[in-house]
Amino acid sequence: MLLKNVCLENSLEFLDIRIEGGFFKEIEKNLYPINNEEVIDIKGKLLLPPLVESHIHLDTALTVGDPDYNHSGTLYEGIALWSERKKKLSKEDVKSRALRAINMEMAHGVQYIRTHVDICDSRMVALEALLELKEEISDKVVLQLIGFPQEGILSYPNGKELVLKAIELGVDGIGAIPHYEFTREYSVESLNFITEIAARKQILVDVHCDETDDDSSRGLETLAARTAEIGNGEYVTASHTTAMHSYSEPYMGRLMRVLQKANLNFVANPLVNTNLQGRYDSYPKRRGVTRVNELIANGLNVSFGQDDIRDPWYPMGNGNLRDVVFMGLHVLQLTGYEDIQNSYKFITHNGAKTLHLKNYGIRLGNPANFIVYDATSYYDALTNNSKLLYSVHNGNFLVKNV
Ligand code: FE2
Repeated sequence: MLLKNVCLENSLEFLDIRIEGGFFKEIEKNLYPINNEEVIDIKGKLLLPPLVESHIHLDTALTVGDPDYNHSGTLYEGIALWSERKKKLSKEDVKSRALRAINMEMAHGVQYIRTHVDICDSRMVALEALLELKEEISDKVVLQLIGFPQEGILSYPNGKELVLKAIELGVDGIGAIPHYEFTREYSVESLNFITEIAARKQILVDVHCDETDDDSSRGLETLAARTAEIGNGEYVTASHTTAMHSYSEPYMGRLMRVLQKANLNFVANPLVNTNLQGRYDSYPKRRGVTRVNELIANGLNVSFGQDDIRDPWYPMGNGNLRDVVFMGLHVLQLTGYEDIQNSYKFITHNGAKTLHLKNYGIRLGNPANFIVYDATSYYDALTNNSKLLYSVHNGNFLVKNV
């Protein structure tokens, strides 16, 4: 297949791309068809590497209103509602909702998904369902599973055993929820436990870390210190870290030293955290999204996630990561021209780094995975909510909207 006149990641000059056997074979100007090769004229439209969803909960997706809506809008009411809903889980229920959510994301150009899956369930229904689904859809989308102890490790009966069981069943990584543990000591112990075992088993770590407005929630310093000591920052992610929004400047100065030493990844979820945070404030209400701009300025990797699609924590969402970027740029006040042009990186390259993906990007020899928007730049695509024209995975069309 030969793609003609491609605007590759906002480039001003157009390129041609040859795909052979599902891989990028040539990327140059002025390529011409060989034999009966299929030719698609992209007509100067924007071609990007596929979108990466770096944080979602597929097991909870599309359960909103069952057993009830979240009336307070807080994280804690969400956890309580989910605790009720998960008693009704069956493999079929999880797989059908997860697949619907995956299809929503795929229709918007996502080809890589990191999903957290609640393992505070002795039956492990959701994990077993998503492990099956991961295999069933592997030709279309790369699914990465993080075992997530939603109700705590030390504060939930047999929490440590459930983490070990999830690892045995085959998760790609393990998480924790330090701000939900009963005590500061439990929070520290939960992080020591998962960082040690993840390093030993050589799996990923992605912690729901300090997802609160409470500025005394300081799981991140423990996660970063352990990660710096172990030296495996590229495998470790701190998700949410919304308490950082409320930390004092002197504390941030101290914290940033260990974050840089750890060199771990961060995931912000601007849609969901703008909704959940500030719920205990009168006025002014905090935005509650982590300090993305400062993390980037200090050389740390930050990607964006959808987090929830119509579940106890967020009643909306349609799998379109464009909305996540759009909200992120607003709450973070990232509205300079270059900020907007480059903002696709939060849901492409930066996400790929968070997921520790290999062979990602439009490069010779990589799998032919890409998307094309009906737009001339990402500024154009974002502002006009431009149509996705193509999504191609290993040389095969997942989306063709022409
Ligand atoms: Fe989350």
